[in-house]
Amino acid sequence: MAKKTFSCSACGASFSKWSGRCEGCGEWNSISQDAGLSAGPPSKSLGNRRGSPVQLSDLSTEEAPPPRTLCGMGELDRVLGGGLVPASAILVGGDPGIGKSTLLLQAAAQFARSGLKTLYVSGEEAAAQVRMRAQRLGLTEAPVKLAAETNLRDILTTLEAEKPQLAVIDSIQTMWADNVDSAPGSVSQVRAAAHELTTFAKRHGVSIVMVGHVTKEGQIAGPRVVEHMVDTVLYFEGERGHQFRILRAVKNRFGAADEIGVFEMTGAGLSEVTNPSALFLSERGETSPGSVVFAGIEGTRPVLVELQALVAPSPHSQPRRTVVGWDSGRLAMILAVLEARCGIPFAGLDVYLNVAGGMKISEPAADLAVAAALLSAREDAALPADTVVFGEISLSGALRPASQTENRLKEAQKLGFTAAIAPAGGKTGTVAGLQLTRPSDLAGFVGETFGAG
Ligand code: TYD
Ligand code: MG
Repeated sequence: MAKKTFSCSACGASFSKWSGRCEGCGEWNSISQDAGLSAGPPSKSLGNRRGSPVQLSDLSTEEAPPPRTLCGMGELDRVLGGGLVPASAILVGGDPGIGKSTLLLQAAAQFARSGLKTLYVSGEEAAAQVRMRAQRLGLTEAPVKLAAETNLRDILTTLEAEKPQLAVIDSIQTMWADNVDSAPGSVSQVRAAAHELTTFAKRHGVSIVMVGHVTKEGQIAGPRVVEHMVDTVLYFEGERGHQFRILRAVKNRFGAADEIGVFEMTGAGLSEVTNPSALFLSERGETSPGSVVFAGIEGTRPVLVELQALVAPSPHSQPRRTVVGWDSGRLAMILAVLEARCGIPFAGLDVYLNVAGGMKISEPAADLAVAAALLSAREDAALPADTVVFGEISLSGALRPASQTENRLKEAQKLGFTAAIAPAGGKTGTVAGLQLTRPSDLAGFVGETFGAG
């Protein structure tokens, strides 16, 4: 008898026995028994061909890499690493309602217009509903085939018969493999469906895009459990109240990870934002204390964003530390360094930090900009409006230069900034018209920017 295995529906970790709390992610009540692929009769599509290995040296070096297809939506093409690679498996994750179906219907139409035979399989909406959405998006003329299916075997049969070059599966959580004995949306089902679809993509040379809803609910498996199976993992992020949406590559076998594409949700679908810096800074009013512009790099592209900090006396015995769009552990570190190396305490003060526009930042190069925003808020002193800040802070209080310093400076200059504060070291190149301040440690920065501190 096959050994029983258990896995967590939140993070996908596997265990040999059940427990109430996942050791991997700490989630309660998220572990359930796997039915696994080995349970039940083997599915037809897996076949029984024997593998025939080839010598690495026999692979022709002259063979050109497979041609990629550009869809014409520049933001999407770039995130994919320069177009769609044939026979690739792509996962698009995101919160429910963020706009995944909208994005993929638009993408399917664009790829179809670029000459790819495209099939859009919806497991969530009836074909008529998808058509209604297409009407709203002005895509009714696009040569995309629609299917409303949830049975995996039927879908694979359809794919085999139709032989599309690109298939969109919306969503992986609605797929149902009849050889797996558990409900749609469970870890075993999601894993089995993703595995079958990925295998199919490689065998038949079809590019398959799978949609996965991100969920904290233990009942439904999130996209995490299939991340390792696919070639490319994209997350569609954004704040509900904001119209900006960011498509981020968190894994890509065919391009740079961390690449982002920026979109705006409008009444007629998603439109591309080709100059995100201008957009993120467009809501910026008069400079006020606590507001600092950070010159960041997302993937291969520089992006300027506004950081906002608020520091106020706390009525609580344990002051609040609230962060939106950045890492709260990193904020605690910066506060500790400011206190230990520069003698600036934040005890008894509530600290709020927000990245404007619904953007999420993970670069350590934001450290110095965060420190500047915190100090500016604490001292109630605004930084000059036309200044960008970036650089990494180490625990010793020393500043480390950020990668791609020159690109950051060029973007700042392009958007009309006239001054930059960045750590000494790092290649600045020649960026005309930008006044550079180059502190080597945090204490020096505090002294120069905020007087004695
Ligand atoms: P949807 O693509 O259905 O989200 P998901 O597939 O990620 O669950 O998008 C749903 C939201 O997008 C919905 O709240 C309405 C909004 N929307 C627009 O604002 N404009 C549009 O043209 C469309 C199609 C949707
Ligand atoms: Mg949807």
